[in-house]
Amino acid sequence: MKVLVIGGGGREHAVIKSLKKNPTITQLYALPGNGGIARDAICVDISAKDVDGAVSFAVQNKIDYVVVTPDDPLVLGMVDAMNNAGIACFGPNKAAAIIEGSKAFSKNLMKKYNIPTATYEVFSDEAKALAYLETVSLPIVIKADGLALGKGVIIAETLDDAKQAVHSMMSDKIFGSSGDNVVIEEFLTGPEVSVLAFTDGKTLVPMVSSMDHKRALDGDKGLNTGGMGTIAPNPYYTNQIAQQCMETIFLPTMHAMNAEGRTFKGCLYFGLMLTPNGPKVIEYNCRFGDPETQVVLPLLESDLLTIMQAVTNETLDQVEVKFSNGSACCVVVASQGYPQSYQKGYEITIDESVQDNVFVAGAKAVEGKLVNSGGRVLGVTATADTLPQAIAKAYENVEKVHFANAYCRKDIGQKALKVVLEEN
Ligand code: AMP
Ligand code: GLY
Repeated sequence: MKVLVIGGGGREHAVIKSLKKNPTITQLYALPGNGGIARDAICVDISAKDVDGAVSFAVQNKIDYVVVTPDDPLVLGMVDAMNNAGIACFGPNKAAAIIEGSKAFSKNLMKKYNIPTATYEVFSDEAKALAYLETVSLPIVIKADGLALGKGVIIAETLDDAKQAVHSMMSDKIFGSSGDNVVIEEFLTGPEVSVLAFTDGKTLVPMVSSMDHKRALDGDKGLNTGGMGTIAPNPYYTNQIAQQCMETIFLPTMHAMNAEGRTFKGCLYFGLMLTPNGPKVIEYNCRFGDPETQVVLPLLESDLLTIMQAVTNETLDQVEVKFSNGSACCVVVASQGYPQSYQKGYEITIDESVQDNVFVAGAKAVEGKLVNSGGRVLGVTATADTLPQAIAKAYENVEKVHFANAYCRKDIGQKALKVVLEEN
């Protein structure tokens, strides 16, 4: 069986390594993949956003199954285009991907179906948005409506900063047309939890929970990034909270999308905050999270392709989705300067002993060598029986990867560890 994965980051590398365990897959392709993914799949230089290019490739190469992982092609309708060409896919269609593609859509969905989230207003008119800001309490959260590489959220501590944020999105267009509309919402507090869930529109199966570390520096300082590391499971997410989320958030979301005629099939990502008033949705993503996937999939004991195909065939209720009882930790090794400017082109070495544990993100092959080409370069991962062991092993593995100007956070998992230690 020939399987094609769309995308080229650490998340895609984790998906590919997981798929590779299925012996029925004879050929695995990645578009565009990257220099590290090339060890595990045939990488073809077609952009993940090139819907027509990807469909032609899939047709010409008689691909049996396509996994569309990143947000852009999903929101552009790559799954619809593949299906129209007769190719089965994992991932939501365009109508369902709007749950991530438009924050205004997702906020309105939650309001309409009583799904707990921060209270909010949506604005398409800058003057009205600015006037509204005069009435809110601080801090206040300003979000660009559309996709913004995970950077379209500004938490303003002062009224001036809030106005500046609205102006930069709506007039200066720092996120392009994604800022045509803005969402202004209540600032929530509490631990954050990421939950990815498989759903075929009839059944929803949450995966093991995780915790991202979004800020660039230790102690949650520095700028927001795409994610500097993850751990799973998230110890704040107790069985009781999991059950509450299933009843008040996960299933209501699946039913709401069905009721809107936008049945979601694929991996639905719930970004949750455990507030003093219960769990609330911070954001939905229409796909696997990055770097959450790098800790969730290594704990998956069932076969990933079987689950994905069951989602496509709407038979998710008939397959087993089993996770190990262990823990995982992923430390992102980034280029010094990320998320701002950084140098590219440094040679990366990865010790053979940790190849299976390293998910390559921002790297390309140049003259047979792997060099850094992006901000987040490697996701160095470990699994173990307990969280402390997984964290310690992940940092041991970090010692076995090298490139000039590399940096990582030294405290991935420490916040979670406090909860684990308090429990014991
Ligand atoms: P997002 O891109 O929507 O995941 O937002 C990025 C980060 O901003 C989240 O992980 C939260 O830490 C923070 N954030 C977003 N919305 C809120 C909110 N309403 N209250 C507090 N923090 C928020
Ligand atoms: N880690 C957050 C995301 O994938 O958007």
